[in-house]
Amino acid sequence: MRKKIIIGNWKMNKTPSEVKKFFDEFKNKKIEFRSNMIYGIAAPSCDLYYAVNERPNDNFVISSQDISKHLSGAYTGEISALMLKEMGVNYAIVGHSERRTYHKETDSDINAKAKTALENGIVPIICVGETLQEYESGISKQVVEKQVKECVKDLDLSKIVIAYEPVWAIGTGKTATNDYAQEMCKFIRSLTSNETLIQYGGSVTPESIDELLNQPDVDGALVGGASLKVDSFISLIEKK
Ligand code: 13P
Repeated sequence: MRKKIIIGNWKMNKTPSEVKKFFDEFKNKKIEFRSNMIYGIAAPSCDLYYAVNERPNDNFVISSQDISKHLSGAYTGEISALMLKEMGVNYAIVGHSERRTYHKETDSDINAKAKTALENGIVPIICVGETLQEYESGISKQVVEKQVKECVKDLDLSKIVIAYEPVWAIGTGKTATNDYAQEMCKFIRSLTSNETLIQYGGSVTPESIDELLNQPDVDGALVGGASLKVDSFISLIEKK
């Protein structure tokens, strides 16, 4: 049975002292976790060291929000798989729509980043998803098919995570219906494998997550806004 994977994407939020506060508060709660679940957060680069050291236990995954396709060298501002690995970071989000939009990342960049991550023992969380315009034009599957095929080229499909995040649902409060999320995740599965973990992301809340996770091809969620506060984050990962 595939595991569920719930990751909070903090985006550009929280200073190191706020990270410590989050974990201090988290450690004071008594939590009954969902079973068979991978859970954690993706922190900004400058917070990763603190997050790894402040997390409550080794099962709490700390992910980066990006990774360089290079291992070292003259790449100002980038962070390498070797650096992440040594810090204890085992996951890396690649190709988030915000990076595709603001940093012009292409599917081939994303594939190269995911490859470097995997070769160095870091699980890439590869983000795909159509824009509102593409959704309204009825070409969501064509767009996502192209993204998935190019991003997962030559990767071991049993070792990656794919996050299906329709851009129109990110930060808008407009979540996809459970049926639509299921249909798209099932479609992505048909392009990948039975072992690939496929998350849905886009305005997921503690109220919407259970029904989403009940969908047979939705293996988890990548959650932005609702992962920032401790109580809200806990209601995403705890057993109901
Ligand atoms: P929201 O949950 O805030 O819509 O963000 C989704 C997202 O982009 C996670 O990567």
